[in-house]
Amino acid sequence: MGYNVAVDGPAGAGKSTIAKLVAKEMGYIYVDTGAMYRGLAIHFLKKGVDPEEKEAVVEACRDAEVTIGYEDGAQQIYLNGENVTGMLRTEEVGNMASRTSAIPEVREKLLELQRSLASEKDVIMDGRDIGTNILPDADVKIYLTASVETRAKRRYNELKEKGESCDLEEIARDIKARDERDMTRDVAPLKKAEDAVLVDSSDMTIEEVVGRICSLCRRA
Ligand code: DC
Repeated sequence: MGYNVAVDGPAGAGKSTIAKLVAKEMGYIYVDTGAMYRGLAIHFLKKGVDPEEKEAVVEACRDAEVTIGYEDGAQQIYLNGENVTGMLRTEEVGNMASRTSAIPEVREKLLELQRSLASEKDVIMDGRDIGTNILPDADVKIYLTASVETRAKRRYNELKEKGESCDLEEIARDIKARDERDMTRDVAPLKKAEDAVLVDSSDMTIEEVVGRICSLCRRA
């Protein structure tokens, strides 16, 4: 069994930024499980599947294979052998991932991949149900969150930096809707594991959050 650190929290809390830095500092492999759901979402979008039609989503799962690899230490997502990493981070893909991840068969499809990575390697794995469901015996569990306003502002700045036009209120609305979906679904909803350490990054710098998490972990 590898040394396992689980990081869960809502969209835009900074999980991937923080987990990548902790991985580098502590010598772990970073596993982004949201990217796996996003990889499957690309498959559903390509096939024109309606996320509300559960049967169609389950059927579409049959000819999708999501695998993971690393290039220069950066996680790559392959969908049926094609590297789709560059296509993962759009709102369209995020929304499709959020909707379809509520379907048990979709979660089932990715569960083994996630558990087997953690059993072989020292990992820091981020997602929504890592501490509660995927790795209930993780060595360290973190619930990383921030206020809706802070998360919306971060996303707004990120998009502005990329030169994309965006609206702060619309982003905040989208974040709230995503929180609601992720937290209220029947299977593996987002919630803090009882034994997870709560880290609210609203008023913390990235360095402070990384330092706080590293102080709880053992070096690989
Ligand atoms: O972290 P992210 O924004 O890349 O995740 C995209 C969606 O995937 C998110 O809205 C919910 C889903 N997800 C999940 O249900 N369980 C995980 N462990 C990771 C992501």
